[in-house]
Amino acid sequence: MRDTYILGIESSCDETSVSIVKNGCEDISTVVLSQMDTHSTYGGVVPEIASRMHVENITIVIEECLKKANMTMEQIDAIAVTYGPGLIGCLLVGVGAATTLSYIYNKPLIPVHHIAGHIYANNLVSKMEFPLIALVISGGHTDLIYMDKDYSFKKIGGTLDDAVGECYDKVARVLGVPYPGGPLVDKLANEGNDTYTLPLPLDDETYNFSFSGLKSAVINLVHNEEQRGNKIAKQDLACSFQNRVVKILSKKTMRALEEYNVKNLIIAGGVSANKGIRDTFTELCKENGINLTIPHIKYCTDNAAMIATAGYYAYINNIKANIDLKATANTSLF
Ligand code: KG4
Ligand code: ZN
Repeated sequence: MRDTYILGIESSCDETSVSIVKNGCEDISTVVLSQMDTHSTYGGVVPEIASRMHVENITIVIEECLKKANMTMEQIDAIAVTYGPGLIGCLLVGVGAATTLSYIYNKPLIPVHHIAGHIYANNLVSKMEFPLIALVISGGHTDLIYMDKDYSFKKIGGTLDDAVGECYDKVARVLGVPYPGGPLVDKLANEGNDTYTLPLPLDDETYNFSFSGLKSAVINLVHNEEQRGNKIAKQDLACSFQNRVVKILSKKTMRALEEYNVKNLIIAGGVSANKGIRDTFTELCKENGINLTIPHIKYCTDNAAMIATAGYYAYINNIKANIDLKATANTSLF
């Protein structure tokens, strides 16, 4: 069978990324230009600056990706792009580039939902086996999803308020850790002990999550200790916080696997880079005979390889867009 090459474009937040993936599983060339250093000065992503930087970099990143692959646009079968959700000004840059390339080179245009991309980052590890449960944990999402086949997404639960990554970033701020706080809170947690009393959030019979209560508990604890003139043991607080997050995510996910009688689990999204989460799930899945896949660290946070991979499955499922594809800031996968 002839090989299929998808060029993917991702620009939904603060990474300008372009990738070429072969047959939905082999990363031929990926370029990621992160704006993290610029935004860390402001303590978070500044949308206006982010979209301007995407404009400056998108053509350079496309050219570099093709050069690295030693390929030309003529050899590409289709162009996949993140159309949403994300920062609208940022999405517009990627969608603008993709529609232009699609028009000039007469290639099919494939719309990819950002979360479908995160899920398909797992296909770069090994071919996803169905049925599966996907735990999506990112800066904007916390979802439990059931998939019985490629490109079929059924939500079984999700966060009622903050996403887990958002919660990490807010806890980081109160601990005085610079943006993006998630990876540093993870590092602190691994150096500390679980000594602080914090609630296990939304420990109920549903598959939903709620992280705002845990976030507020950490913030209140820090403020109260500061008012009393006590010093916070940052490593211990990070460890106590991380343990509650890992506990509730693993408890509900393992229950979902049992109730849905599913033996395959994939974890996706930026927070899947978390060591506590990776270690705990690895151990639990081993004990329970579950086949676990977590993306390689470089594919956990935003990148275009995941978009090209998801794009391949959208392409073979005949999901295509017209040249008037719209970038959409809020769009559901379900
Ligand atoms: O998937 P992603 O790159 O962007 C979104 O689609 O939201 O996820 C970014 C989120 C940020 O909140 C970041 O702090 C978090 O993932 N994150 C982590 C870790 N690495 C990234 N959170 C906890 N532990 C980590 N090691
Ligand atoms: Zn993401």
